[in-house]
Amino acid sequence: MKTTDTTTHRNLIIIGAGGHGRVCADVAFRAGWTVVGFCDPAFQHVTDILGVRMLADCEETLFGNWPDHTGLFVAIGDNTRRLAVLDAASRMGIELAVLVDPSAIVSPSATLSAGSVVMPGAVINAEAFVGRGSLINTAAVVEHGARVGQGAHIAPGACLTGDTVVGDRSLVGARATLIPGVQIGQDVTVGAGAVVTRAFGDSAQLVGVPACTTQHLQLVSRAAR
Ligand SMILES: CC(C)(COP(=O)(O)OP(=O)(O)OC[C@H]1O[C@@H](n2cnc3c(N)ncnc32)[C@H](O)[C@@H]1OP(=O)(O)O)[C@@H](O)C(=O)NCCC(=O)NCCS
Repeated sequence: MKTTDTTTHRNLIIIGAGGHGRVCADVAFRAGWTVVGFCDPAFQHVTDILGVRMLADCEETLFGNWPDHTGLFVAIGDNTRRLAVLDAASRMGIELAVLVDPSAIVSPSATLSAGSVVMPGAVINAEAFVGRGSLINTAAVVEHGARVGQGAHIAPGACLTGDTVVGDRSLVGARATLIPGVQIGQDVTVGAGAVVTRAFGDSAQLVGVPACTTQHLQLVSRAAR
């Protein structure tokens, strides 16, 4: 596996302590990281989560006083915001971790970019590429040569078959499938269980088998009335 993980140590601070942040912490523990703190303004009323100290500061303050020998993982569920925080950290020279659960299978020829995470049971096959800050969720499959842009989310059980392309910040919903070679643009949402059989451009919302845009579905249902 090729990674652009820039960390040189195993201490980690995780930004985002909601459900996704807690799953990322579990992955980090299993992968041998020491999680030294969570940062999340929404959880300032508690002192620790999963035995990890809550850091009182908001991310901006934290970035200005970043501890030595500590990497960062951004575990914010919203794709756009995750990428924005990752970029802000990068500009401050903070080292970005890549998290890979030990139960995941990642080909030696696949590339995982900085700030990405591969969740339990996921499979990333030969020459696949995962962009900065992207999330390959539980038991998802990224087949040979598939390309996932920056800040994307491939949800639990989703399947990107061979040579497919997912644009920046797009969500491929739980158990959705892209058939071989299909490309979808940026900021696309593929609904849970959809099967995408042809290319779609930016900002589409797709559902069904074969997948079509929700806009198209509304037109069809209006015409049927
Ligand atoms: C497609 C999706 C984005 C639509 O969300 P939404 O805009 O809030 O839409 P609504 O829930 O209001 O549903 C609108 C219509 O689409 C239908 N619909 C919603 N999701 C659907 C799906 N995945 N497949 C087929 N139809 C779907 C609804 O039944 C509803 O139909 P109706 O108008 O006939 O009643 C969402 O349902 C979805 O599938 N998201 C993916 C979630 C996911 O996998 N997340 C990963 C978490 S780890």
